[in-house]
Amino acid sequence: MTTSIRVCAAGPAHAALLTGLHNEMLQAEWTADSVARLLNLPGAFGVVAVTDKNERPLGFALCIPGGEGLDIAAIGVAADVRRQGIGRLLMDEVVARAEAAGCRELVLEVGAGNNAARHLYLSCGFSSVAERQDYYAPRAGKPGESALVMKKTLPT
Ligand SMILES: CC(C)(COP(=O)(O)OP(=O)(O)OC[C@H]1O[C@@H](n2cnc3c(N)ncnc32)[C@H](O)[C@@H]1OP(=O)(O)O)[C@@H](O)C(=O)NCCC(=O)NCCS
Repeated sequence: MTTSIRVCAAGPAHAALLTGLHNEMLQAEWTADSVARLLNLPGAFGVVAVTDKNERPLGFALCIPGGEGLDIAAIGVAADVRRQGIGRLLMDEVVARAEAAGCRELVLEVGAGNNAARHLYLSCGFSSVAERQDYYAPRAGKPGESALVMKKTLPT
């Protein structure tokens, strides 16, 4: 990609934007109220990937506090710009922010059959620590599936 991309912070004021990105990129139906509630948790934050020309947002991540670290509740990249390094850019920013906040680990859940996301996480240093059978219910014609819980330990 020739256009340069940067990652900006997003907070409760951006709940509607993040909800739209979430629902488009993950084909889900979160509400702006529920996203705003998550973003208002102490330590929660969002990040959004935008181009230097300030065009439409290309990707996002939403992180909430969890245990001794940070839970990556959602991450997504627009379908037409996947596999161009944006997911990794978002993850690098999340890791940097988590480290700056003194978090010990990052945790997330991913559908066992979501190869793109699983490979992104593996390539960013996450490893699978548990499997939750039948975690995701069937929806929109897709069968249910198990979730893998993945973790990345951060330097202390
Ligand atoms: C998962 C997702 C965020 C990855 O974003 P992306 O911008 O395409 O990822 P990147 O281009 O940064 O890829 C980084 C690495 O992830 C892995 N990866 C990404 N897409 C992949 C694919 N389709 N197949 C295999 N590996 C893939 C590769 O290791 C890749 O590194 P490489 O390109 O050097 O081989 C994107 O596919 C997406 O939004 N999917 C739909 C939403 C979703 O499933 N979110 C995760 C929910 S848990």
